[in-house]
This record gives sequence, C-alpha cells and structure tokens, in this order.
Amino acid sequence: MKLDDPDLFRQAALIGGQWISRPDMEVTDPATGEALGHIPDCSAAETTEAIAAAEEALKDWRTRTHAERADLLMRWYQLMLDHAEDLARILTAEQGKPLQEARGEILYGASFVRWFAEEARRINGAIIPSPVPGKKIFAMKEPVGVCAIITPWNFPNAMITRKVAPGLAAGCTMVIKPSDFTPCSALALGVLAERAGIPKGVINILTGRPEAIGSTLTGSAVVRKLSFTGSTRVGAMLAEQCAPTLKKLSLELGGNAPFIVFDDADLEAAVEGAMASKFRNGGQTCVCANRLLVQSGIHDAFVAALTARVDALRVGPGTEDGVEIGPMINNAAIDKITAHVADAFAKGATRMTRSRDLPAGYADPVVLAGADTGMLLADEETFGPVAPIFRFETEEEALRIANGTPYGLAAYFYTTDMARAFRVGEALEFGLVGLNTGAVSHEVSPFGGVKASGLGREGAREGIEEYLETKALHFGGI
Ligand code: SIN
Repeated sequence: MKLDDPDLFRQAALIGGQWISRPDMEVTDPATGEALGHIPDCSAAETTEAIAAAEEALKDWRTRTHAERADLLMRWYQLMLDHAEDLARILTAEQGKPLQEARGEILYGASFVRWFAEEARRINGAIIPSPVPGKKIFAMKEPVGVCAIITPWNFPNAMITRKVAPGLAAGCTMVIKPSDFTPCSALALGVLAERAGIPKGVINILTGRPEAIGSTLTGSAVVRKLSFTGSTRVGAMLAEQCAPTLKKLSLELGGNAPFIVFDDADLEAAVEGAMASKFRNGGQTCVCANRLLVQSGIHDAFVAALTARVDALRVGPGTEDGVEIGPMINNAAIDKITAHVADAFAKGATRMTRSRDLPAGYADPVVLAGADTGMLLADEETFGPVAPIFRFETEEEALRIANGTPYGLAAYFYTTDMARAFRVGEALEFGLVGLNTGAVSHEVSPFGGVKASGLGREGAREGIEEYLETKALHFGGI
C-alpha cells in the first residue's frame, strides 16, 4: 500500500495518548489474503487502563467551551479531507471495498464530524416555568461521561465518526474498539485526532479480539454508555452485559430490508435505486435491500433490466480501476452467501444472471427470480451481492411480506401514486424508509431501527442527544 503520509498507517493501540505496539495479530487484505500489518491484542488490564485514561481526560474535556470542542472537531474534519486519499487507501486495503467507494465513505465519515462540530454549539437546555412561586427550574444538558464504542468492519471509518463526533461534541470521552478485521482505519483517525489537538485520553483505541475488551467495557461502572453497530445477536448479548451497571445504550443492529417496486413505479429509477441499495459495499451493509418485492405487472421488465445491470458489474480487487464489487470480508461471509443461494436453488429459485468463475474470496453477484418466504434469504440478512426477487400481486400482500420480519432497520419502495406513497410509508415498520430512492444515509438524517434492529438514533439532531443527560436544576428562594 502506497501512502502519501505513511505515518497514518499505525499498527498500535492508543491508550491515554501512548501508542502501544505489539505484533499479536495479523491484519489481512481480503483481496489477497496477505498480511497488511500486525496489531496488539489488548488485554482486560489494558482496557481498564484505557477506561481510566478516558475518565481522567473527561475532567477537562467536559468543561471546555462548546466552541472550543467545535473548533477541535472542525480541525479533525479538515485533516480527514486533507488526507482523504490515504484514508481511502487504508480502508480499501483492510476492508476490500472498491477505492471509489472507500473515497465516498471517507467523505461520509467526515460529514458526521462537521455536522456534530456544528451541533456542538447548539446544545441548549430549557428554562421551565415553575408551578411554585419563588422558584426557577433549569433543564441542563450534560455529557453522559466515558463512552464505549464498538464498531463493525463494513464501514471502518464512518461508523466510528458517527459515534465519536457526537460524543466529543457533547463533552464525553471515548474508548473505541474497532473490528479486529479493520482496525487500521480507526487508528488513522486516531493519528489525525492527535494532530488536530484533541487532548490525550479523550480518544482511546483498543485493538484485538473482542471478548476481553468487550466484557471489560460492558462490566465497568465508569463507562456510562455503550454504542454498538453489529449483529442483533451480539447487540443483545452486550445489552445483557451492560444491564448490571445500567448503561445508556445505542444499538444499530441487523436488518432485512424489503425493496418494493409497485406496477406504477418509474422502472429506470427503481432499477437504479435497487443497484445502489443492494450492491453498495458488495451487499455488506445493514441497510442493503435484502428482499426485492416486485409487483407482477412490472416484474418481468424489472428483472430483465436488473439482470442486465448486474451482469455488467465488474468484480475484482478494490484497488483496480473500474471495479464495482470487491472481495467479501472473509470466508465466513462467503459461506453464508453460498448457503443462502444453495437453499434458494433447492427451493425453486432461478438464476437470471450469468455465472462467473471468480477467485477465492469473491462472491458472484446474482439475481434470483422466484424467491419466496420459505427461503433462508427471506429471514436472514445475506450480507452479500445476492438480489432475490419476490413476485407479489397486491399492496396488502407486499406490506405483509415486507413487515413479516423481526427486523426494522430500512425499507424502500418505488411508486408514482401519491396516496400510496403516504399509505405505504406509514405502514412500513422500519426506522428508515426510502421512497423512490435507494439511499437513506446522510449525516443530517436520523439513522436507526426498530424491533430487533436496535435502539437509538445516530446522525442528525437526535445523534447528539444519545450522548447527553438532562439534569433538572431547581432554584428555590428567589
Ligand atoms: C451499516 O451498514 O451499518 C451502516 C450503513 C450506512 O450508514 O449507510
């Protein structure tokens, strides 16, 4: 990997401003399976040190003016833009997504830092009229305190900034545990935070296996909040571990997004939206369309147009020009995709796209016609480039299938009928709904799910509230 600023590629954990390097674990490039570098496997004792460093740093950080915190965040944001190309190269090397998409993620990640730098100056409380004479009541906003941040491998940059930026803006300090598959993007952000002048101990980054670090973070009474993005299974386990110390929780968990195309949809727009939603990051996002529900009148035209687009997708190493689908993150991901496709074939689905002979580590992008609710891919996130098409007849049937899942993160639908737009928009039981768009992720918009997809919202005004407590200060004797 060639970087303009090689110092951004760190192979060390960051605890209380000290970089600790130890070659305990390999970080691999999913495109080649070769080692990119080595990181420490942080212990429970090191996690406790990081928590203590964050607790110490909190004393000063929470008392800084909001303008000062905003300025430091803006400096961090600017450094991310200045080093965007290097950050994208590191991201592609460890995660696999095409470089063009990695560049997009860096801008997406940086947008949260700018947004929350701006929001830092608008953390206002309220003065509440008292029911009792001679008294005033102030509702004051205060930082939650030390926060634990556990982030996934699919967005190694943006999932960190979406959590850390609002936390820092609110006056909290952070102990971050990035995925052990993609720690280097987090560490590069740590280098830039240091250069921006964010004080030692405000951001701590622990690399390594999740068990010891995770259970120390969740078990600590000093840590007052956990924000996690990942699977519903792990989210529920972490929530259970946090219960004895009653931490505030933000959980952005799994999805099973329906993508509904009604007969009256604009076909071209619907195909464009399906491509954007389904194949972003090779299908490895929580908000990816997982089930494409297409009404019978437009079904054949939609399947033909989508198939042509998928057949034209270029699959290969993320560093190669023009590649649109990179390698999957690991063999477990490939195994799940393979099992879902095999199950669909066994239950009657038909492959519409050409079959490609790809090297190990890559998944063949596929459109499957004739999907039904008895298939594995109807119930579980495939997390890969598989587009199963479910044919339906009526709006009622589409809504029944769409809502027939324990998950409630994202849903999409395409229609030109305004009455249907409102009706279906309201009836979908999801936290994010895309109407005539396949993109629902922006820093200005609340992001999060209902039901088994989690708790809380990230981004937007709501994102900062997750890192604030409200204190009611009652003044008597006035
Ligand atoms: C995710 O897949 O967890 C996040 C996707 C996004 O922010 O759009």
